[in-house]
Amino acid sequence: SQTAGAIILHVNGEKHALTVDHRTTLLDALRERLDLTGTKKGCDHGQCGACTLLVDGRRSLACLQLAVAAEGREITTIEGVGGSGAGQGAGPGSESGGQGELHPVQQAFLEFDGFQCGYCTPGQICSAIAMIEEHAAGWPSAVTDDVHPEAAPQPLTPEEIRERMSGNLCRCGAYMSIVQAVGYAAGARHTHSG
Ligand code: FES
Ligand code: FES
Repeated sequence: SQTAGAIILHVNGEKHALTVDHRTTLLDALRERLDLTGTKKGCDHGQCGACTLLVDGRRSLACLQLAVAAEGREITTIEGVGGSGAGQGAGPGSESGGQGELHPVQQAFLEFDGFQCGYCTPGQICSAIAMIEEHAAGWPSAVTDDVHPEAAPQPLTPEEIRERMSGNLCRCGAYMSIVQAVGYAAGARHTHSG
């Protein structure tokens, strides 16, 4: 039976053709084949959130999906969340010292010291970017199940940020700064939209 296949992955606005084993995870394809190592491998079993990235704008765990299943989807990694200027990959969560524009959530992580060792940071930032949009769109959190379709979105409380980002673990325990950073970025988005 066939065990390898040619696929095209759309990552950070670029197309990459590669041949992968059918069992290769999206995480391994990005890190080992495309050298996009900003997306971290923590548990490799869907438990820690270190590998969180965006698939078609939704947060997603790269360790839990196969590369072949990601074909045709728009994948955004930490290297691609900022401006598209030269030097993609700047900022917290990135290893390269590029000069690209930072995403407002990255800026907030810098301002509020939202990281210590930084290992969880790319996942935290990708998760926060999508979560802020989910909240603005009125999606209920998985935990509180609160739906207020008629009401304008309420500002995210620290408790709700914690709930909505409970899948992103931080072994350094930097949660307080992370919540502050995410809250600030969410508030800024709230102010600037609408
Ligand atoms: Fe994917 Fe831990 S590495 S959730
Ligand atoms: Fe070290 Fe979160 S900053 S794991």
